[in-house]
Amino acid sequence: MKKFRKIGILTSGGDAPGMNAAIRTVARKALDEGVEVVGIIGGYSGLIKDHIIPITPRTVSNIISRGGTMLYSNRCTEFKTEQGMQKAIDTCRRHEIDAIVAVGGDGTFRGATDLTNRGIPTIGLPGTIDNDITATDYTIGFDSAMNTAIQMIDCLRDTCESHARCNVVEVMGRDCGAIALGTALASGAVAAVIPEIPFDEAETITRIRTLAENGKRGFLVIVSEGVRTEDGKKYGEVLAKKIETETGVETRFARFAHVVRGGKPSLRDRYTASVMGVHAVEMLLQGKSNLVICEIDGRIEAVDINYALIADRYYKNKLMPGDLDAFSAEQIAAMEKLAQKRRKEVETIYRMVAQTSK
Ligand code: F6P
Repeated sequence: MKKFRKIGILTSGGDAPGMNAAIRTVARKALDEGVEVVGIIGGYSGLIKDHIIPITPRTVSNIISRGGTMLYSNRCTEFKTEQGMQKAIDTCRRHEIDAIVAVGGDGTFRGATDLTNRGIPTIGLPGTIDNDITATDYTIGFDSAMNTAIQMIDCLRDTCESHARCNVVEVMGRDCGAIALGTALASGAVAAVIPEIPFDEAETITRIRTLAENGKRGFLVIVSEGVRTEDGKKYGEVLAKKIETETGVETRFARFAHVVRGGKPSLRDRYTASVMGVHAVEMLLQGKSNLVICEIDGRIEAVDINYALIADRYYKNKLMPGDLDAFSAEQIAAMEKLAQKRRKEVETIYRMVAQTSK
């Protein structure tokens, strides 16, 4: 067991329900192991600006059920500069912070690697509503965001049925269609439109027209914000107009945007944040770092952050020259296997939406 004097916790990137549960668990577990804990306010910028608060067991009381993050969050560009990084390291030294647990998405993990490389062992917890981190099956916040979305979609279903209308709903997810896909299946939408799979617009429009002619009154179409028209416009609003013009079914458009990032975390998110948080502290105490805690086929496992970041680019076809140089043939084969698994998951749910929407 490595003896740490003090660890810091931060949340970075887009906030996600369940981040508070992660903060609480990391803090309580570390304190229980006799390690001091501090909170870093406002993500990596808190390290640069020396905005550090002490954390006792009571500091994290009553936050497990709260959305947002009590440590606040942002996307810090200064941290990517050498000067910003140096200020961050100086803050860690001044406060005797021996290690950090960082909760966030891929940008957060890049920062975690930079810190580890400069002598501050860091572990990442996946916290983003998007569920877009390839190395892990699940990211903290995804379930809550989908539950919030589906409550609002259910409301739209009621009014669509009353007025014999279609509602096109745009949900967040950046370049990942997971939220759109999950909510489309669970809300009984006629179609999900996601960045990963080409959308057959003509088929969907014909289907809506035929179903309307045969007496179906309400229609829902869920579009991921990452889907764009050829000239770069968000597709949801464009599709809504086309559906109305080409089917005669009156159509409205709704953008849920940041609403789904707020609100109470679900049991799934509190539970996962808690289990992952304990695991992160255990890893640090075992002297391990530069890891991201993942859920893989129902197990909690620690994965090397560099591997996770490159596996993510591999799956998203965003590899840059030299990205694979540091990896063995076995590791590259594992990335390919992982990419196939992710593609299959998306295709399977997409097919289910299509099969159940006639
Ligand atoms: O990554 C979380 C997320 O909410 C994405 O779904 C979305 O594209 C993005 O963040 C929005 O970012 P911002 O909060 O900076 O507007």
